[in-house]
Amino acid sequence: MIGIPGSGKSTFCEQHLPQHRLISLDLLHTRFQESKALEEAILEKVDIVIDNTNVSRAERARFIPKGKAAGYKIIGYYLQSKISDCLKRNAQRTGKKRIPDAGVIGRARQLERPNYDEGFDELHYVSIENNSFVIKEWLIEENAK
Ligand SMILES: Nc1ncnc2c1ncn2[C@@H]1O[C@H](COP(=O)(O)OP(=O)(O)OP(=O)(O)O)[C@@H](O)[C@H]1O
Ligand SMILES: [Mg+2]
Repeated sequence: MIGIPGSGKSTFCEQHLPQHRLISLDLLHTRFQESKALEEAILEKVDIVIDNTNVSRAERARFIPKGKAAGYKIIGYYLQSKISDCLKRNAQRTGKKRIPDAGVIGRARQLERPNYDEGFDELHYVSIENNSFVIKEWLIEENAK
């Protein structure tokens, strides 16, 4: 998954990838625990989804080469990350899930759109229309959105 906070990554995982082993820094708390869970999932050969913001190439590079080395097909879902929409959705969240607006904006500043040269076998562009996720093939002309 790739997308700033509030872009809908976790909701997308619930709706579209329910059978995948969920690896997420939010759930596992530390990079150490995250690595351990990832290694275990790879050994078990289960389908895996990395539900972090993964906004930078460097963050994605933590996972892509490992997956490729283990023979996984690498699929990226980029969630449309319009700051105004994400701030609105963040504001609707309650409890720990709601983060300070500065967190949304800070991640947006770090955002580097994904590219096939990072090792993706497939890349998809996901937007939310009438509360439903719409999945399209990643197209360069969509990159500006
Ligand atoms: N398809 C959708 N239609 C309407 N609202 C949505 C949709 N997907 C997510 N939301 C709402 O947007 C908010 C953010 O969604 P979600 O928690 O999935 O984002 P996230 O990208 O996982 O954020 P974070 O990076 O902080 O974990 C939630 O309140 C969620 O209910
Ligand atoms: Mg989430």
